[in-house]
Amino acid sequence: MNSKQVAGERAVEYVEDGMIVGLGSGSTAFFAIQKIGERVSQGLKIKGVCTSENTRMLAEQWNIPYTDINDVDHIDLTIDGADEIDPYGNGIKGGGGALLFEKIVASNSKQIIWVVEQKKLVDRLGAFPLPVEILPFGYKHSLGALAEMGISPSLRMSGEETFTTDGGHFIADIQIGKILDHEELDRNLKQIPGIIENGLFLNLVNKVIVANDDEVDIITFR
Ligand code: A5P
Repeated sequence: MNSKQVAGERAVEYVEDGMIVGLGSGSTAFFAIQKIGERVSQGLKIKGVCTSENTRMLAEQWNIPYTDINDVDHIDLTIDGADEIDPYGNGIKGGGGALLFEKIVASNSKQIIWVVEQKKLVDRLGAFPLPVEILPFGYKHSLGALAEMGISPSLRMSGEETFTTDGGHFIADIQIGKILDHEELDRNLKQIPGIIENGLFLNLVNKVIVANDDEVDIITFR
């Protein structure tokens, strides 16, 4: 089994009957969803809330009952991947472009577990380009506002086309290197009107399941 599968499947041990479960996006969350599907076929009763259209299709494929986030008043547990995690449990997400829906689901979850390969653990966030979700209306001005902050954004493309999120927005990836003050960066990004969300997930995760081949480490933050 590869590390992603080991981490993803391990997280599913925390899923209990009756839970509303946030289903994350990406290649590691994939294995958690697949395992949940297996447990559902054996009688587990849960309701999923999907963080992306890709995830919704996986839930469909694995016969996992799912519902619209507006039809639940909370989510018990969300299992998701991450692109980078610092020693305090702050992370960068959105490499796959699902950050906005992932953050809405995470913010409404009682418990959040991230599942990652060991190489995602870093001393300081920022080597991974931070995704910033931008409204198409006036996006060139939003990119300009980022440039004025001293950041050089790169508009994410999908082949010849501008990459579009499930919410119909664009993404700019910003290469910072090492983020010295992520709280301040988060605040500054949120002050630009066309910027809807960014991939900094601060003070949110409860547990991180880290796998290195078959070895698993479980870090509890809050
Ligand atoms: C999706 O937009 C992301 O936030 C993913 O959760 C993150 O990129 C981790 O993905 P992998 O598990 O595929 O590395």
